[in-house]
Amino acid sequence: MTHLVLDQVSIHYDGQPAPAVERVSIDIAKDDFVVLVGRSGCGKTSLLNVAAGLVEPVRGRATIGGRPITAPGSDRAVVFQNDALFPWLTARENVAFALRLRGVRAAERARTADNLLALVKLDRAGDKRIWELSGGMRQRVGLARALGAEPQFLLLDEPLGALDALTRERMQTTLLDLWTASQVGVLMVTHGIEEALVLATHIIVLAPGPGRVVRSFEAGFSRRYAAGEAIRSIKADPAFAAARGELTDAIFEGEGA
Ligand SMILES: Nc1ncnc2c1ncn2[C@@H]1O[C@H](COP(=O)(O)OP(=O)(O)O)[C@@H](O)[C@H]1O
Ligand SMILES: [Mg+2]
Repeated sequence: MTHLVLDQVSIHYDGQPAPAVERVSIDIAKDDFVVLVGRSGCGKTSLLNVAAGLVEPVRGRATIGGRPITAPGSDRAVVFQNDALFPWLTARENVAFALRLRGVRAAERARTADNLLALVKLDRAGDKRIWELSGGMRQRVGLARALGAEPQFLLLDEPLGALDALTRERMQTTLLDLWTASQVGVLMVTHGIEEALVLATHIIVLAPGPGRVVRSFEAGFSRRYAAGEAIRSIKADPAFAAARGELTDAIFEGEGA
C-alpha cells in the first residue's frame, strides 16, 4: 500500500531566527485519516505544505510511495479553508475543469463531474453557479474538484473552518463518506477537538516553539462510522467523552492554564 511519509522533517523559513518545525514524523497509509491539531503557529500548515511539495524541509525527508516529494503532483490534492472556485462557472463546470486538466475527454467530463458531485452529496446543484451556493456547498464543490484529479492523498487545511456549526457537522459525515468511497488517504488540519475525534484514525498533537509532536493517538471512531455505526451513537459513547478530555489536555498541556 502507498504511504505518504514525513520522516524527521524540520522546517526553517529563510530569515527566521528559529525553525518553525523540528523533527516531525508522520506516516499516512492510503486508508488512514490523519488529523493534525495544535495551537496556532505550531506548524500544521507548514507540514501540510511539505506534503504538498510547496515547502522544502531543511532536514528530514518527505516521500510518497518511497519517492521524494519535490513538487506538487496529481497524486496529492490540496483543499484550503477558502478555496478559490470560478464563481462564474457552474458547480459541474468547476469540477469538469479539473478533469480537463487531467486530460479526460469532453464527452466524459460532465458525467464524471456529476458522479463526483453525487459523492459529496451535491447531486442536484450541478447547474448552479458558484455565487448561488452556500459556503458549505462551495466546500463540497472544492472537494469534488480535488477528487477529480484522482489523487491518492487529500491534504486538507481547515477545510470546514469557515462554516457554521450545523453545516460543519454535516460536512464531517460527507468527508467520512467520501474517504470510504474513494479510498484516499487523508491528512487534515483542524482546530476542532470533536471534529478530530470524529474523523481521524490517527491524531497528532503538535505544540509550538518550535513545532513538534507532543502526543500521537490512535482513534477508532471514524472506522466505526465506516463500519455502519451512526455518528450520534458514536458521540454518545462514554469513550468519546473520555477521548475528548484526553485530547483537550494534550493540546493545552504545559500552558499552565
Ligand atoms: N512563509 C513563511 N515565512 C516565514 N515564516 C513562516 C511562513 N509560514 C509560516 N511561518 C511561521 O512558521 C510557524 C508555523 O506556522 P504555520 O505552519 O502557519 O502554523 P499553523 O498552521 O499551525 O498555525 C509560525 O511561527 C509562522 O509565523
Ligand atoms: Mg495553519
